[in-house]
Amino acid sequence: MRLFVAVELPDELKQALVGLRADIPGAHWVPAEQIHLTLAFPGEVDQMTSERLISELARIRSPLFQLRLSGTGCFPDRRRPRVLWIGVEPQPLLMDLATQVQAAVLFCGIPQEERPFSAHITLARLKLPASRECGAFLDRYPNLKLMSFLVREFILFESRLTRQGAIHTPIKNFLLAAPTANGQSHNTVDPQLTTP
Ligand code: 2AM
Repeated sequence: MRLFVAVELPDELKQALVGLRADIPGAHWVPAEQIHLTLAFPGEVDQMTSERLISELARIRSPLFQLRLSGTGCFPDRRRPRVLWIGVEPQPLLMDLATQVQAAVLFCGIPQEERPFSAHITLARLKLPASRECGAFLDRYPNLKLMSFLVREFILFESRLTRQGAIHTPIKNFLLAAPTANGQSHNTVDPQLTTP
């Protein structure tokens, strides 16, 4: 199975992102229900490794935190844009969570890219060379700031590639820690939110 680990966005925010779409030649816009913030991409793994990964991810400890999406950009650069994205305001707790998730993936023997984590929400993948419309899109929102939201969990997804495009299915939700009365925090895997 092909796996990735991500933070889901509130539906309202996904709709706001869909509202930013523009007429860019060769742009394949990510469908609203598939917009997410990737923390790690384990890729293709077997059943045993996926079970091991689930137990490693369940060991991760992180408090809840706020995130705010801001700014636009593209990978790898404006001369050859391949991915159009929305950025994320700096949030050390997100960086710490991504580091823990990537360490869990590595611990399961799954190689990871050396590139440092670069928080982004992919809006579109571009199949044609840089266009005037693409440049205009990147220049249009120099001070874009969207509503902030509380990250309460991260999710292990399966991505099945089909002729109709990728199908993302949540495999397990991992709750972040809410502080308790005594000031301690405790993460859990929420049985209500998980699929068998
Ligand atoms: P991204 O869009 O946030 O960059 C599911 O396929 C998700 O995993 C994609 O949306 C993509 O996240 C990420 N992904 C896919 N292929 C990848 C790869 N080869 N390396 C890193 N991340 C990848």
